Amino acid sequence: MKKAAKITGFGGYVPSRVIKNTDLEKMLDTTDEWIQQRTGIVERRWVTDDQSTSDLAVEAAKIAIQNAKIDVKDIDLIVVATSSPDTDIPGCAAFVQAKLGLPGIPYFDIRQACSGFIYGVSLANLYITSGVYKCALVIGAEVQSKGLDKTPNGKGVSIIFADGAGAVILQATDVKDETKDPHVLTTHLHADGSSASELWMPVPGSAFGPVRITHEMIDSGKIYPQMNGRLVFTHAVTKMPEVLNEALTATGLKLDDVDMHFFHQANTRINQKICEDMKIPVEKAHTTINKFGNTTAATIPLGMYDAFQEGKIKPGMIISMVAFGAGFTWASALVRY
Ligand code: COA
Repeated sequence: MKKAAKITGFGGYVPSRVIKNTDLEKMLDTTDEWIQQRTGIVERRWVTDDQSTSDLAVEAAKIAIQNAKIDVKDIDLIVVATSSPDTDIPGCAAFVQAKLGLPGIPYFDIRQACSGFIYGVSLANLYITSGVYKCALVIGAEVQSKGLDKTPNGKGVSIIFADGAGAVILQATDVKDETKDPHVLTTHLHADGSSASELWMPVPGSAFGPVRITHEMIDSGKIYPQMNGRLVFTHAVTKMPEVLNEALTATGLKLDDVDMHFFHQANTRINQKICEDMKIPVEKAHTTINKFGNTTAATIPLGMYDAFQEGKIKPGMIISMVAFGAGFTWASALVRY
């Protein structure tokens, strides 16, 4: 018998405010046609002024708790992956913990952007398999819309990013039959910090002088995300298949054994190219980017909740999660549900 962690609940939440491509045409000097052709995005959700990242995270968490049929007090670890926390100090998980009414239990903010949720699953999995904690809430949540350049200068980036949250409950389990019992089979994490400035938001930060933010930095647009889109694209289509293959090799599974893939939703063309190169039937790769855009750390858990709600995730299925993003970071996980 082996100690392991299994997913027992999925949750997801997006704000109700729908932003269609046509709403961005004048603001960003773009067109619906350009956005759909280059990214596959048709619409996305943006919060209203009074909503924060932890608000979305808590809504997703409540649904995951309900689906796992646990009491909120059963949770003994919180991990929140986000690159858009409520505040820089103390991040996002602090507010999630307080709003869920769980004083005393530890929490982490994970900052690995689009790969953050898989980094979070890996961390929670290790804590559970080592016997330290029994029930982890792992969330990916973002409010990107409040940090975007909403002028034509931001058109290469602001069309992509959006707001949303997804969550899972991971619980301790004893695995008797590795080929049948639900559990996290493997996780693989990678990073290359030498590409940090290829996709980043430099300010506020300690890298540029005596203070973290100045009026000049704001005026020059350093407060907005900046991206070398083509470089991100070429790295993503190489590293995502590589890290998925690494997970298959580690488990001895074949690509055909995987029932559903949850690829990070950065851009439809990235995922189409991966499916084409690896000969994965497109219907096995669940897509949400058309309706939710790129919600960074949230795309994978939000996608899993979306598929779960549609009845596509069934007990016994093998699920992959694969991401690439800022850092650069890339990661994969294989789970039997
Ligand atoms: N609407 C209309 N035109 C736009 C535009 C927009 N929203 N954004 C850029 N353009 C224009 C540029 O001004 C440029 O015009 P020019 O050739 O006259 O100078 C042209 O389109 C090409 O710009 P470029 O930035 O090279 O576009 P691209 O073909 O690389 O596409 C992305 C941009 C962002 C769609 C693409 O690079 C991409 O998807 N990359 C992956 C990024 C990603 O996944 N990021 C998330 C990481 S998690």
